[in-house]
Formats: sequence, C-alpha cells, structure tokens
Amino acid sequence: MAENLIITTSTEKAERYETLLPQIESLIAGEPDLVANLSNIAAALKQTFDFFWVGFYLVKENELVLGPFQGPIACTRIALGKGVCGTSWKEERTILVPDVEQFPGHIACSSDSKSEIVLPAFKNGKVFLVLDVDSDKLNDFDETDEIFLTKVIRKVEAL
Ligand code: SME
Repeated sequence: MAENLIITTSTEKAERYETLLPQIESLIAGEPDLVANLSNIAAALKQTFDFFWVGFYLVKENELVLGPFQGPIACTRIALGKGVCGTSWKEERTILVPDVEQFPGHIACSSDSKSEIVLPAFKNGKVFLVLDVDSDKLNDFDETDEIFLTKVIRKVEAL
C-alpha cells in the first residue's frame, strides 16, 4: 500500500482521476474489509479533489445508512426513493444534479451543498451501496466525473 497519496499537479480533472485510480487499486488490494476500503476510498477522493462531501451510504434492511465519509456531519438514514441517494438506489442509476435546489426532494444535509452526483454499486444484481459526492459550487460535476467515479464503483463492486 502506498504511504502517501500522489496527487498530480495537473488541474485537468481526468488526469487527476487517472493518477488516483491505480492508487485506489493498491490501497484496497489484499484488504477484505469493506469499511476499511470504503474509508480509504472516501479519503483518497477527498484528498485529490477536496470535494465538499464524499462518502457512502450502505443498504441495510430497507434503508440507506451512512457509511465511511469525509466532510461535514451528514444525515444518517435515507429511505428508498428519498433524496438524490434514495432515488439513485430506487432507480438503480447514476444521478447527476447540477443544482440541488432543482431536484425535487433533495435532502439538504448542509445548505452549503450546491451540486451532487450519486452512483449506485451492485452486488448480485442489487444495489448494496451508493457513492455520494457533493460540491459547494453549482454545476461542479460532469461526464468526466461520471466516467471515472463509475470506475471507482466497479472496484468497490469487486471487493
Ligand atoms: N443530498 C443527499 C443526502 C446526503 S448528503 O448530501 C451527504 C440526498 O439528497 O440524497
């Protein structure tokens, strides 16, 4: 495992993700514990991009429950179909929200959160967690984030 995370000086988002992905791979290699791995993935994403909030909600019984994250305190439980996270879980798809105020039912854990992307991860064909990334800037996520965060999700699914 790498001792220090290497962050490229490039301001190109794609290059930052390209540098990060193999490091995530080596961070989780050989470690079977899900919480340990999700914790390091959240920390690596936060360190690389300084996202306002980045973390995981895990499906437990019929709710999403807060998992490893980096950022301000957050809501602990989200029902199926509620907010961006609960909608991503219910509809089993990635949701990109350029302006959270325009998303009906958005759950504002912090009034500083302005845009958001949520990606579901699947095990045995069912969503078992979602990755939620929030920004304090409007319209901060695009297709590049979706492509690379999906690669992170594929690694989480392979754990
Ligand atoms: N905004 C999310 C709730 C989680 S927090 O942003 C950390 C939602 O609407 O599901």
